Amino acid sequence: MTPTRVSGTFPGGASPRLLGHLPRHLSQSAAALVLSVLADQLVPIYGQGGRSRQALAAGFNRRMCICAVDDDRIVGILGIQTEAAGFMDMRFSTLQRFYGIFGSLWRLALLAFLHHSPMAGEAHIDGVAVAPAYRGRGIGTAMITALAAWAAGQGLSMVSLEVVDTNPRAQTLYRHLGFRVVREQTVWPVGNLSGFRSSTVMIKPLA
Ligand SMILES: CC(C)(COP(=O)(O)OP(=O)(O)OC[C@H]1O[C@@H](n2cnc3c(N)ncnc32)[C@H](O)[C@@H]1OP(=O)(O)O)[C@@H](O)C(=O)NCCC(=O)NCCS
Repeated sequence: MTPTRVSGTFPGGASPRLLGHLPRHLSQSAAALVLSVLADQLVPIYGQGGRSRQALAAGFNRRMCICAVDDDRIVGILGIQTEAAGFMDMRFSTLQRFYGIFGSLWRLALLAFLHHSPMAGEAHIDGVAVAPAYRGRGIGTAMITALAAWAAGQGLSMVSLEVVDTNPRAQTLYRHLGFRVVREQTVWPVGNLSGFRSSTVMIKPLA
């Protein structure tokens, strides 16, 4: 994917760039961003602190994401999952390095509840997060628009995502971007651990 610039005024006057991959040296800070912004879903599984950051970063497929980078800092990230590969397809062997055998088994079981297996032709948004100081300035919109353009260029027919019931503002954003609700589902047991009851699956058909 070709790097592009996001328009708008940002803290420090800088203008984040969008990248179609995650540079290796930014993996840990991307993991910190994902863990802090998507804490409800991820902290019950990975925990907090250095180990969780390292484990998540070690499992990233760095070519399956779109990042917003400001002055060599990650300020936004969008994970992509297709039928072939996903940004956060965590393997037992990766988890085991950080949590041991038993600690990896239950974590992998919980991750399976969160996992979405895309169909042929589907690009799934496997988490989207913008750093708090940069929200409401078009970065989320730019990343989702870039994903839709990439997916259309790959010949895919839809973009999908899941949003939890405790996040109505994000749902509103997705509606504005052309997504429509296709179903509601319960997210047991991760939802019980995290304080949300259901998630909404939304899709955006690509022309
Ligand atoms: C949802 C999110 C990715 C949107 O990114 P963004 O760069 O703020 O989005 P944009 O600037 O393109 O669009 C802003 C719109 O997003 C929505 N939004 C959702 N959560 C928001 C938040 N915490 N702050 C600001 N806008 C938010 C609003 O509808 C807003 O529109 P408004 O300005 O009319 O209220 C980002 O706010 C975020 O990381 N939120 C926390 C994590 C999250 O909810 N992830 C989605 C999980 S499905």
